[in-house]
Amino acid sequence: MPGLQSSPTGPLSGVAAVPGDKSISHRALILGALSVGETRITGLLESEDVLATATALNTFGAQAIHEDDGKWRVFGRGVGGLSEPSGVLDMGNSGTAARLLMGVSATLPFNTTFSGDASLSKRPMERAMIPLRQMGAQFTARDGGCLPITVSGAQAPIPITYELPMASAQVKTAVLLAGLNTPGLTTVIEPQPTRDHSERMLAHFGAEVVVEDTPGGGRRISLTGQPELTGHRVTVPGDFSSAAFPMVAALLAPKSRITLSGVGINPLRTGLLETLLEMGASIGVENRRSLSGEEAADLVVESSALKGITVSPSRAPSMIDEYPVLAVAAALAEGETRLEGLAELRVKESDRLGAMAKGLAAAGVDVTETEDSLTIRGGGAKHPGGVQIEAHLDHRIAMAFLVLGLATERLISIDDAATIDSSFPGFAALMNGLGADIKECP
Ligand code: S3P
Repeated sequence: MPGLQSSPTGPLSGVAAVPGDKSISHRALILGALSVGETRITGLLESEDVLATATALNTFGAQAIHEDDGKWRVFGRGVGGLSEPSGVLDMGNSGTAARLLMGVSATLPFNTTFSGDASLSKRPMERAMIPLRQMGAQFTARDGGCLPITVSGAQAPIPITYELPMASAQVKTAVLLAGLNTPGLTTVIEPQPTRDHSERMLAHFGAEVVVEDTPGGGRRISLTGQPELTGHRVTVPGDFSSAAFPMVAALLAPKSRITLSGVGINPLRTGLLETLLEMGASIGVENRRSLSGEEAADLVVESSALKGITVSPSRAPSMIDEYPVLAVAAALAEGETRLEGLAELRVKESDRLGAMAKGLAAAGVDVTETEDSLTIRGGGAKHPGGVQIEAHLDHRIAMAFLVLGLATERLISIDDAATIDSSFPGFAALMNGLGADIKECP
């Protein structure tokens, strides 16, 4: 697929609904496949990442089916009921699909092999394998603990208490999913709370999950193994991480006012909202409602003069995927913005810290990168732009720079737009519907 370019734009206006939440979509399919009976999912994100999970679950013997009305039906096999896949499971670009399904397969008594694209094959998987080994699984991985990986699932799974060395919802969920087919109590202790979609959805499907705060500011999550999960209805809210792109675009384009309807506002996901409000953004949260155990709302965003702030490391888990687009907001804010505690950004779909620093500098922004921080000095005249940015197979890098191109003097292009489909199919059309000018490079 050719690249995309975005040109300076006038006001953005109108109402848009971003596609379904990626994290919740993966989990709805997986828990549907591990339940007895039928699960019906409305608003599933039909992106490449989520389709990788659906295809893998079908290879495990569950049935995840796309209906003509746009809904998905999953006929599950029950906890422990999946069967040995006949071939390699291709996880594409998706770290969530890979780590969550490694968790599922760790306590199934057969071999499962996972592969991924060039980006995913560089990402660390050892962090998931360490606790899963303690539960009895064995792994054969490429050097450095990377994909392709073969999991030999435990014949007699052992319940563990595992203290996560880093804040990672994927590793937490991998252990909990392995714990589903393990007798007794599986416990995960996290240093800081991370997105709790798994805990909420496990409870929604009938598992016994106890969540407690720890004295150090983290959380302790305990799951009683071998529950009988039953198929449920799930309505997936819009993805806050996708909404972040039109949100920042509307803040930056003068005289804009847009409404993003039905966006998930789980408090462990909305760190960007708090940060932008601290920077002076005008964002209203209206029509709050509950959807299958998650909160959603309409977000009303108006163009705002932003000012630079310091964002502390404690904010990182609740806005981990939003730093690329926050860096763009910071580039257009008055004064200095310091983003701290960002070591995890180096092991996402790309080295996001390096990619943002390099791309912003190329577009004319004054930026300093350290091992785990980014300092951006915004304000003054418009940044020149007029550059092509490498997306590094990273959807959020691609979209962040397309948002920046709406507010630079000259257009910004990205070399590869195909990667955007891993989380936000229809991104350019949605943005253009609001008044942006994003099109294929000539
Ligand atoms: C996710 C967790 C986060 C996030 C990713 C989705 C999830 O990753 O960056 O996009 O669905 O659990 P980590 O667990 O690596 O922090």
